[in-house]
Amino acid sequence: MTILVTGSAGFIGSNFVLDWLSQSEENVVSLDLLTYAGNLENLSSLSNNPHQHFVQGNIGDQALITGLLKKYQVRAIINFAAESHVDRSIHESKDFIETNIVGTYNLLESSRSYWNDLDKNLKQNFRFLNISSDEVYGSLNSSDQPSNESDPYKPNSPYSASKAATDHLVRAWFQTYNLPVLTVNSANNYGPYQFPEKLIPLCILNALKAKPLPIYGDGQQIRDWLYVKDNCTAIREILKQGQIGETYNVGGWNEKTNLSVAETLCDILDELKPKLDSKSYRDQITFVQDRPGHDKRYAIDASKLERELGWKPQENFETGLRKTVIWYLENEAWINHVVSGEYQDWVQKQYS
Ligand code: NAD
Ligand code: TYD
Repeated sequence: MTILVTGSAGFIGSNFVLDWLSQSEENVVSLDLLTYAGNLENLSSLSNNPHQHFVQGNIGDQALITGLLKKYQVRAIINFAAESHVDRSIHESKDFIETNIVGTYNLLESSRSYWNDLDKNLKQNFRFLNISSDEVYGSLNSSDQPSNESDPYKPNSPYSASKAATDHLVRAWFQTYNLPVLTVNSANNYGPYQFPEKLIPLCILNALKAKPLPIYGDGQQIRDWLYVKDNCTAIREILKQGQIGETYNVGGWNEKTNLSVAETLCDILDELKPKLDSKSYRDQITFVQDRPGHDKRYAIDASKLERELGWKPQENFETGLRKTVIWYLENEAWINHVVSGEYQDWVQKQYS
């Protein structure tokens, strides 16, 4: 049997495929449109692995998806494909609506028609696992409890609204058609292969290039950080043991202000790659204009996953961040390839 992983050349998707094939011989069809965020280099270590088959394509292409599901007898779909950057969604939201909502709708329909024709056993074991975000719960105050699976949805950005809409579609396909779905709402991920438009890799790259580390507003907004490998382990466990129709929150119990994230990162760099003038990278931290509608705090209550499926994160923020910094220091060629062309245009548009 085979699993279909969409968005497999992006940050979390590629980590998931690498993680999957490091402990399983079950085949993976990995599908990605290769937008600006997709990078085949993330999967280059698998180029001779007979268990991975890469296809460039759109989750919204029903003919392509139905063909792949049948050809490879897919037993599960893990849908990572999305437009994922909040700041881009503020500049231009159209692709977020098209990929995240309409694209996933088409993927649900392709899956439903394939699943309907499966025989009883295969039908029972099929899974459609959709990857969502803690951002659908909206912004928390400092006194609020971390978000749990029964909290109401209150998305505030075009990105989080598109993810929330998708979650509702996935839920409806379960309630109405019995499609065996699972939803995973995870906290902010960080780790290897993250495109440097997001806070942590952006700060690492800018620090090394002696550029400002741009912190929005006063830097007191809080995110709950999850090392990507821990997320991959959680997703595997949910796929294996999760109750169909259920939602699982995945978080690292690592609430940090953005400013403290940048400071910790600078301290690690000061130790691992000290500047020639012996000054601290902290000197490069620069407060810039705030993000419109910037959510104050996200925090995830992951106790359902821990209680029901026995999952626990292996990394705390300091150990995960150190591994991440070391990965970026050791992968200069990867960095040099991703920061050309379109990336420069984005940096100019967002930070000039
Ligand atoms: P990413 O932007 O790094 O990767 C997304 C991938 O999807 C890219 O490779 C892109 O080429 C591909 N893609 C885009 N449109 C497509 C389409 N129409 N068809 C096929 N492929 C397409 O994103 P990521 O950070 O890896 O996030 C993966 C998923 O996890 C997303 O659904 C995101 O909303 C969710 N998520 C991310 C985080 C995070 O911190 N990064 C946190 C919670 C949830
Ligand atoms: P980001 O990595 O874009 O993830 P998300 O918006 O999905 O949480 O941003 C994480 C936090 O860092 C968020 O509060 C916005 C902030 N941020 C900055 O302060 N400066 C930046 O240049 C970026 C990209 C983000």
